[in-house]
Amino acid sequence: MTSAGPAAPVGVFDSGVGGLSVLREIHAQWPTEALVYVADSGHAPYGEKSADFIEARVRHLIDHLRGCGAKAIVVACNTVTGLMIERLRQHYPQTPIVAIEPAVKPAAQSTRSGVIGVLATRQTVASPGLARLVDTYAQGKRVLLQACPGWVERVERGLLDGPDTEAAVAAYVNPLLAQGADTLVLGCTHYPFLAPVIQRLAGDGVQIIDPAAAVARELGRRLAQAGLAAPAGAETAADVTFWTSADTSQAACLIARLWGQPVQPQPLP
Ligand code: DGL
Repeated sequence: MTSAGPAAPVGVFDSGVGGLSVLREIHAQWPTEALVYVADSGHAPYGEKSADFIEARVRHLIDHLRGCGAKAIVVACNTVTGLMIERLRQHYPQTPIVAIEPAVKPAAQSTRSGVIGVLATRQTVASPGLARLVDTYAQGKRVLLQACPGWVERVERGLLDGPDTEAAVAAYVNPLLAQGADTLVLGCTHYPFLAPVIQRLAGDGVQIIDPAAAVARELGRRLAQAGLAAPAGAETAADVTFWTSADTSQAACLIARLWGQPVQPQPLP
């Protein structure tokens, strides 16, 4: 691969529905790109599993997307990026792979208090990828790495607000605020769906950074460089198709809610 041309779809995957927060940015910026999304919700959360288990799942997802003809892959999962992005690029050398990672660099540039909170899964918090980002871009800043167990499961169950979700969010956000964080990085693609609650708790003086739009811009650059960008200017948006490893009817309800349109996810083989 990739023998796929500009008309081929872009493959996007995550451990579950979180990557829809990236997919919506890609679709907004590049509406003529056909997209195939895989939600591995049957195996979420990745952040609590072993690296070997995650890598086996991820290869299965990427092989499936390549089997769908994907011309490029977007890793819409910070946990996967932090643990194994180099190995994936070595394993699939002919497929452009664009990967999300926590937005430590923009946070370090914009914090006024000098204290940044990074909200992420346990695996991401412990990953060499995140340690490298902090070393490279946040010298002289205080970076508080906060694992948020339970948040991915809440989003997977559609529990995006209400007293219990607010309590679960407060449990990890309040300690960061108490230590002076004025910038919070959403280091997991599920967390943008909790952003309204996070912002409400943190107040308007705290900036929340989601790197999804930057990932979509990077995808556009990579496709253009490789001569793989879909022609712009079509009158209708290209197809977006969904696959899931969870129950398809439950997935259809949740994805439709987060995506904002009815969808018919297919069962992942
Ligand atoms: N959305 C994934 C991420 O960005 C969550 C991983 C998980 O399932 O724990 O890290």
